[in-house]
Amino acid sequence: MRGTVTLFTFGVLCLSPLDAQFTDANKPEVHSDILQHFKYGSIGAEERAGVPYWIWRVLPELFPQHLPKGPGEGYERFGLIFEPGNPRPIGTSYRERQIPLVGLNCAVCHTGTVRDAPTGPRRIIPGMPANRFDLQSYQKFLFTSLADPGFTADRIVPAIKRINPDFGFLNSLVYKFFVVSRTRDQAAQLASQFTWFEGRPPQGPGRVDTFNPYKVMFGMELSADKSIGTADLPPLFHQKVRDGLWLHWDGNNDKVSERNKSAAIGAGASEASLDLPAMKRVEDWIWELKAPAFPADRIDSRQAAAGKLHYEKLCAECHGVGGKRTGQVIPIAEIGTDPGRMRSFTEALAVKMNTLGTGQPWKFSRFRHTDGYGAMPLDGVWLRAPYLHNGSVPSLRDLLNKAEDRPKVFWRAYDVYDFENVGFISSGEAAEREGFRYDTALPGNSPSGHVYGTSLSGVQKSELIEYLKSL
Ligand code: HEC
Ligand code: HEC
Repeated sequence: MRGTVTLFTFGVLCLSPLDAQFTDANKPEVHSDILQHFKYGSIGAEERAGVPYWIWRVLPELFPQHLPKGPGEGYERFGLIFEPGNPRPIGTSYRERQIPLVGLNCAVCHTGTVRDAPTGPRRIIPGMPANRFDLQSYQKFLFTSLADPGFTADRIVPAIKRINPDFGFLNSLVYKFFVVSRTRDQAAQLASQFTWFEGRPPQGPGRVDTFNPYKVMFGMELSADKSIGTADLPPLFHQKVRDGLWLHWDGNNDKVSERNKSAAIGAGASEASLDLPAMKRVEDWIWELKAPAFPADRIDSRQAAAGKLHYEKLCAECHGVGGKRTGQVIPIAEIGTDPGRMRSFTEALAVKMNTLGTGQPWKFSRFRHTDGYGAMPLDGVWLRAPYLHNGSVPSLRDLLNKAEDRPKVFWRAYDVYDFENVGFISSGEAAEREGFRYDTALPGNSPSGHVYGTSLSGVQKSELIEYLKSL
């Protein structure tokens, strides 16, 4: 698969012919601490999806005109999270090579932030959906910057030297004669494989089109395929209770280990480059990783006790651990949510997915096409907002309203929490300034369906919400 196309991420900038000319160390970044490793370590994705690290470092400074507007500087504009003292954001990995590479890992899509108040600090929560990360605009930034006429060695090399005094004469020559032009060529080739972005509504922060990129990778014809596979990022909490359940939003796979490995391939690993020991560490960690609790002082325990009864009556069958339909697919005619993501994962694609890993002990076999969406356990549901597979409903209170009464337009990716309605604040001046405008009228964005609980009285809804906080 090497040399084809990446899935979610940027691309084939691994410079392989060049690598061969050097005795190459090829050391992925490894951390003994699993949380550090999850945030910054390698899962083998740089091989196929790496960008030369020093070029990556100077792009925002050299091409500010291609950065989206919004809060933060440089890569923060894409909602990437920087911790003090680290030049790379959470979710990026590093591979030491003659030409060092930066790639992405699980944390880029599966680590998010919460603020209790607009002026409060950002709490980083590993395993929660990356509610502010806009992968599509990150990809577009890389494509446009690397195709810009100003992307030349004469500008790149001095910019690198300004931040890295050890970048010596030999390196300068190699970048001047090989790396810059090769990066440009490969980026152009890659950009041509993402033309299907056009003609589909923007994904925006916290969402990616999960499976359409695989179709390109498998060489399937996309010109007649208008499907919109944009999906809200889910959390990675407590995978142990999810093994054997039919998950991914459309319930297309019932094995945690296949979901994990397909994610790594999605993040840019190839079947050969997949770092199995590193993956195993992440897999073991998310197997037990529990969602952080909703602040206890913000739960009314009396109301929650009443809400538990509504939950058991109306929800537990599909969402309770051990529920009769938990981990099963609810047919689209019954669930009634937007069909886009379900349709994007076709029968033909399922067949192709099950060829991944051929000849390996981990070969995939559990992918299938379905006719609906999977009913998932709701642990940490407060951090899963906005809700439904397309992230079309801002809060639990909105979800308990009939579809026609749910917000038509709202703002995503403002991470100040709405403890009352359970979700993120999604309207108002600050949310509009910092957030992304989500229009439910666009294809794939419908907030329809999932009518459970919508006939409860106002008081009963509040009780149910109080209980859901504690999940
Ligand atoms: C580019 C973003 C991205 C990266 C990187 C990523 N994921 Fe995901 N992940 C997703 C999306 C999107 C889904 C939902 C897929 C769907 O059903 O459409 C998902 C779903 C999952 C699920 C299933 C969750 C559920 O309850 O249905 C697991 C498990 C998972 N990812 C694990 C991982 C692991 C492990 C890694 C790193 C090896 C990883 N992911 C990297 C975007 C990503
Ligand atoms: C018949 C099965 C079924 C019942 C009953 C049901 N749900 Fe769901 N639920 C689903 C399915 C399937 C989805 C995914 C639908 C989609 O995203 O398109 C879902 C999604 C959700 C989500 C969104 C999760 C996320 O990460 O965005 C929440 C929250 C939720 N349900 C809460 C409830 C509550 C509360 C009740 C009871 C009032 C309930 N559900 C009853 C099947 C059910």
